[in-house]
Amino acid sequence: MDNSNRPLALVTGASSGIGAGLARELARHGHDLVLTARRVAAMEALAAELRSLGAAVTVIAADLSKPAAAAALAHDIGSRSLKIDVLINNAGLGALGRFDRMDFGRISEILQVNIIALTELTRLIAPGMVARGRGRIMLVSSVAGFQPGPRMAVYFASKAFVSSLGEALAYELRGTGVGVTVLCPGATDTEFFKIAGADHSIMARRLRHMMRAGDVARIGYRALAAGRRVAIAGIMNKILALGGRFAPHRITLPVTDRLMMSGD
Ligand SMILES: NC(=O)c1ccc[n+]([C@@H]2O[C@H](COP(=O)([O-])OP(=O)(O)OC[C@H]3O[C@@H](n4cnc5c(N)ncnc54)[C@H](OP(=O)(O)O)[C@@H]3O)[C@@H](O)[C@H]2O)c1
Repeated sequence: MDNSNRPLALVTGASSGIGAGLARELARHGHDLVLTARRVAAMEALAAELRSLGAAVTVIAADLSKPAAAAALAHDIGSRSLKIDVLINNAGLGALGRFDRMDFGRISEILQVNIIALTELTRLIAPGMVARGRGRIMLVSSVAGFQPGPRMAVYFASKAFVSSLGEALAYELRGTGVGVTVLCPGATDTEFFKIAGADHSIMARRLRHMMRAGDVARIGYRALAAGRRVAIAGIMNKILALGGRFAPHRITLPVTDRLMMSGD
C-alpha cells in the first residue's frame, strides 16, 4: 500500500492511556504514526494493532525526563526523513505528596516531561509546520490547569503552564495554517493515578471511573480536527473547570486538598 499521502502524527506517551487512545483515533482517521514513550513492548503491541488499520507505524523509545531526549527524538525523526503533520504532546505524570517532603528528583522528572520536553518538541516541530502552511499540535493539559492543587502542587502548576502556553500559541499561530488545541481531561481511568501514588485518593476512587481513555481521545481528536483552541473532556469536567476558573481560591484550595486525600 502506498501511504505517502497520509498525514504523519507523532504521539508522545503512546504506550498507555490517553496517548494510546489518541494514536488509535489518528490511525482510524487515516494517519500514519510515530509512537514514542519508554515502554517499547506496549508500543509494539499497539503498532501491530494500528498497522492492521492500514497505518504505517514507527516506534521510537525515548525517556523524556532526560534533558537531551526531546532534541534527540526530533533529530531521529528528521534523520528518517519523516515530516510531522500532527504533534500530540501527551506524555505526562504527576506525584501525590506534600511539596516540602517530595524527592526533588521526582519533581524534576515532572517538570522535565510535562513542561520542558513538551515545550522543546513543540519548538522543534512547529517551524516545519509553519513553513509548510499546515499542521496540528495538541498539548494534553488537564482540568488541573485551571486551579492550584494542594497535595499535587507541582503537577497542577505544570498543567497551568501547558494550558497557558497552548492557548497563547493557538493565538500566535492563527493564520499560519497550524492549529493548536489544548485538551483538558478530568480524572480518567488510566495508569496515571497509580504512577502518581494517588490510587487511593478520593479523586481516583470516586471520579476516575467516570471517563475512559478512549472517550477522552475521541473528544480530543474531534477538537484537534476542528481546530478548537481548548477542549474539556466531558460535561462534569466542564463544570469542574468553570469552578476552577471562576471560584475563589479560598474555596477551590480546600476542595482540591480534600479530593486528593486518601479515600480509604
Ligand atoms: N488520567 C487522568 O486522570 C488525567 C487527567 C488529566 C490529564 N491527564 C494527562 O493525560 C496525559 C496522559 O496520561 P494518562 O492518563 O494516559 O496516564 P498514563 O496511562 O500513565 O500514560 C502516561 C504516558 O506518558 C508516558 N511517560 C511518562 N513518563 C515518561 C517519560 N519519562 N518519558 C517518556 N514518556 C513518558 C508513559 O509512557 P512510559 O511509561 O512507557 O514512558 C505513558 O505512555 C498526561 O499528560 C496526563 O497529565 C491525565
